[in-house]
Amino acid sequence: MDISGSKAIFVGGASGMCRATAEAFVAKGGTVAILDLESSKGAEVAASLGGTFVPCNVMDYDGMAVAFETAVEQLGGLHFMVNTAGGGAGQRTIKKDGSRHSLDDFRRVIDLNLIASFNINTIAAEHMVKNEPNDVGERGVMINTASIAAFEGQIGQVAYTAAKGGIAAMTLTMARDLGTHGIRCMTIAPSLFDTGLTAGIPDEGALQLTKDAAFPKRMGRPQEFAVMAISIFECTMMNGSTIRVDGGQRFAPR
Ligand SMILES: NC(=O)c1ccc[n+]([C@@H]2O[C@H](COP(=O)([O-])OP(=O)(O)OC[C@H]3O[C@@H](n4cnc5c(N)ncnc54)[C@H](O)[C@@H]3O)[C@@H](O)[C@H]2O)c1
Repeated sequence: MDISGSKAIFVGGASGMCRATAEAFVAKGGTVAILDLESSKGAEVAASLGGTFVPCNVMDYDGMAVAFETAVEQLGGLHFMVNTAGGGAGQRTIKKDGSRHSLDDFRRVIDLNLIASFNINTIAAEHMVKNEPNDVGERGVMINTASIAAFEGQIGQVAYTAAKGGIAAMTLTMARDLGTHGIRCMTIAPSLFDTGLTAGIPDEGALQLTKDAAFPKRMGRPQEFAVMAISIFECTMMNGSTIRVDGGQRFAPR
């Protein structure tokens, strides 16, 4: 799809990889709405991009439909949706004290990453199906964010791995579901990236965590996620896959 004249919603767009993608999208002539937590820098980021900020919490499933409605009304349509809101705290299946992984904590990570992503995708698709298809039949593109932990979860990442694995697994099925509508669905699985989420990792820790990458042996930069996301939007053949953006990194058990 052509970015020039296209409208996009960036969920998690106040920071990191999603913000960098929104910036790249605007630089190529698109119009954006930033959806993020009320407490985020969303208003500031949206203003710097000539876009709209709509506060939201992806865990408020009904509220997300209202947030999208507001954003789509302001944008005048929706062709692109990128979602990076997510994360998760570590806990072993059996903890060091012998107690079991909290079921509530497991469920919270699934809710934040998997259920919220699915919910956002259905809402975005509901808006995109209303578009007139372009000359090759496309109506829209959606990108979710997994992690390489979806494939090589480290010790203590069992909930996060299940949630991100679920996002990766639903990508092809959703692309098939939405294929008749000309809506593409992709997932990006980053390795360790230098964003708000990882801001607390000291330089020495980052070196340790990226030493097994093939090249480059460093954290990814948000702009490198953006390059992939923009390519996905522009390339009609990109559909139904999860793409690793990881410098050839494979996580060791810990
Ligand atoms: N940074 C990494 O190393 C890395 C690696 C693999 C996967 N990821 C995934 O990337 C995503 C995080 O993106 P980032 O690294 O650019 O981090 P980031 O913290 O810079 O950006 C994430 C944005 O999402 C927003 N957000 C968080 N929870 C939200 C909620 N409940 N509702 C609405 N918005 C919410 C935050 O306010 C923030 O602006 C997560 O899904 C994470 O699992 C990150």
